[in-house]
Amino acid sequence: MIEINRVLVLYGSQTFTAQEIAERIWRKTKAFGFRGPVQAMDDYPISQLIYEKFAIFVSSTTGQGDEPDNMKKFWKFLLRKNLPSNSLRNLKFGVIGLGDSSYEKFNFVGKKLNKRLIQLGATPLLDLGLCDYQHDLGHDAVLEPWLDKFFIELKQYFPEIQINNINDNFIPKWKVSVIKGIENNLNNFDHEDIYFAKGQKSFYLEPIFLTVEKNVRTTHETHFQDVRLITFRSNNDSKLDFKPGDIFNIRPRNSKEDIDDLFSIFQSHGIDIKPYYKLLVEEYHDGKLIHVLIKN
Ligand SMILES: Cc1cc2nc3c(=O)[nH]c(=O)nc-3n(C[C@H](O)[C@H](O)[C@H](O)COP(=O)(O)O)c2cc1C
Repeated sequence: MIEINRVLVLYGSQTFTAQEIAERIWRKTKAFGFRGPVQAMDDYPISQLIYEKFAIFVSSTTGQGDEPDNMKKFWKFLLRKNLPSNSLRNLKFGVIGLGDSSYEKFNFVGKKLNKRLIQLGATPLLDLGLCDYQHDLGHDAVLEPWLDKFFIELKQYFPEIQINNINDNFIPKWKVSVIKGIENNLNNFDHEDIYFAKGQKSFYLEPIFLTVEKNVRTTHETHFQDVRLITFRSNNDSKLDFKPGDIFNIRPRNSKEDIDDLFSIFQSHGIDIKPYYKLLVEEYHDGKLIHVLIKN
């Protein structure tokens, strides 16, 4: 059953910007007293969408006008030809697109998503917001006024909500705790949805291990942007195969020296965190545990 004061926040994000913004928006909805989760579009059970009444979609555009990997399934479903044109008649929504106007297909995904939701019978609460990374104030230049307007529109349906009287308490989405004896504790988990870092399904392809060979600043020291040319060396001569438009995601790793330094700082301050301890990261929505990650 869908709660009455529920606002769903869904995102499609390739490099986490849209995710971070969606989580910020979600915190705002909580502060106003709304319920509902924030999730990647592909993590959301899409068959429920016909029951939703209010939603905010935050989506970036990647590649050459392509949708991020974590909304591909969702988007493919929405494009099905056999969906009735009034499937989403219950839904009132807003789309905020994140893009960069230096790309030819500026905010292509946000625009397509907004159009498709309308085709399926959903009602936009306001025009879609087109954030531009090229703006001097970044995405916030469009995002902040767009959000103010969104909440004013939403208030028509929830007159009791005080949008000027915001509860500023920080609302955590994650709870992090230290597990000292992982081997024994593991057997105590009976949550249905446990992912372990190693076996975790990832939307990234198999990683390639590379070493940074050169890291050179290409902009003048006085320029506000620090743009770098980073040259990598492949450790095992594996041939890198790529086409224009492919995305190269870098997952940096800390050096052993930095890690040793960190643990010696913990030790000198009497903080009981050892390299072999694991962290239990729990994701909550409305007090309900939905996701568990265990990380070294
Ligand atoms: C490889 C790559 C391709 C991009 N392609 C587009 C594009 O075609 N159109 C656009 O408007 N923005 C494009 N962008 C800009 C991103 O949409 C923008 O940086 C956004 O903030 C990224 O959000 P994310 O981190 O949630 O994926 C591209 C960015 C990258 C890194």
